[in-house]
Amino acid sequence: MDDARDPLIALDDVHVTFKTLAGEVEALTGVSFDIHANETVAVVGESGSGKSVTALAIMGLLDGGGVSSGQVISGGRNLAALGEKQLRKVRGSEIAMIFQDPMTCLDPLYTVGNQVVEAVRLHTDLSKKDATARAVELLGQVGIPDPDKRIKSYPHQLSGGQRQRVMIALALACKPRLLIADEPTTALDVTVEAQILQLLRDLQKEYQMAILLVTHDMGVVAEMADRVVVFYAGQVVEQGLVNEVLRDPQHPYTTALFEGIPTPHTDRSEPLTAIPGAVPSLRELPSGCRFNPRCRLAFDKCTSGDVPLFLLDGNRQSRCWLAEGDSASRPADFAVGAEAAR
Ligand SMILES: Nc1ncnc2c1ncn2[C@@H]1O[C@H](COP(=O)(O)OP(=O)(O)O)[C@@H](O)[C@H]1O
Ligand SMILES: [Mg+2]
Repeated sequence: MDDARDPLIALDDVHVTFKTLAGEVEALTGVSFDIHANETVAVVGESGSGKSVTALAIMGLLDGGGVSSGQVISGGRNLAALGEKQLRKVRGSEIAMIFQDPMTCLDPLYTVGNQVVEAVRLHTDLSKKDATARAVELLGQVGIPDPDKRIKSYPHQLSGGQRQRVMIALALACKPRLLIADEPTTALDVTVEAQILQLLRDLQKEYQMAILLVTHDMGVVAEMADRVVVFYAGQVVEQGLVNEVLRDPQHPYTTALFEGIPTPHTDRSEPLTAIPGAVPSLRELPSGCRFNPRCRLAFDKCTSGDVPLFLLDGNRQSRCWLAEGDSASRPADFAVGAEAAR
């Protein structure tokens, strides 16, 4: 990846807070990473680590919360500072998102044709007739058989995999530069999952778009992504090129995600085995490294103070004191002191 080019999207020290009845919670703490044109970046981590919040922060769709500091830079603008009207424009023409559950996007009362035609008309000035032809084409591109007939189906008449395909068609209607896919295959069986992932790869080439793929499945990361950003408890703990992170994970959390802890009951063919212990509540974060209570390699330094994100060779980053001794390492977190003072 040519890092000299301006990224399509750059998250810069993004903090997201939610106001809840029990007070404010900080769901993202100083998240920074880039997405370049045409690349696939995977965001990975256990449930509750902040993956969806990151996706929604980019889309400007945080419900009950917001970006409290930091920026989401795209095309010279800070998306986090845009009003709803401008954001809607961005969502309609530059960034689109698909979700785990297609029914969150599809209206059960309208035919899929109706919905895709509407999406096309929203983003183009095609006539109804031409928009319908484009909708049939889109449905064909996403692998819906007999799209000119299927266009008359209602969402409930389609299988889960086909509904997911329709949602992808809706997202493509605006020819996005970035497609955010939040666990797009988690609800599908493995055969359909493989087909949808292949479809996303094909469409990425055809539409020349970047993909931000949110997943908790390291197998999907390995298969799909160029780079991976590993999240833990609202922070980036490691990032780098997928093949390098796979070959030699730097953060013990990444290692645990890839390997799991083998036990007599562990099926080693499973890509993700449970890591002992649980993701900490954002209200009761441990002091020191957020992963330290579950880390096999934790030592005294890990239990107090924030851990900087160390920059390693090859644009790798690891938020682990073990990276400090690395000869090439230096803190990437200019804001460590600021974070500690916050
Ligand atoms: N609407 C919300 N209100 C309050 N807290 C939220 C909200 N959405 C997310 N969070 C907090 O942010 C954390 C991360 O959520 P999320 O990004 O959805 O996790 P995941 O990595 O599984 O996608 C959650 O554990 C929760 O504590
Ligand atoms: Mg999620």
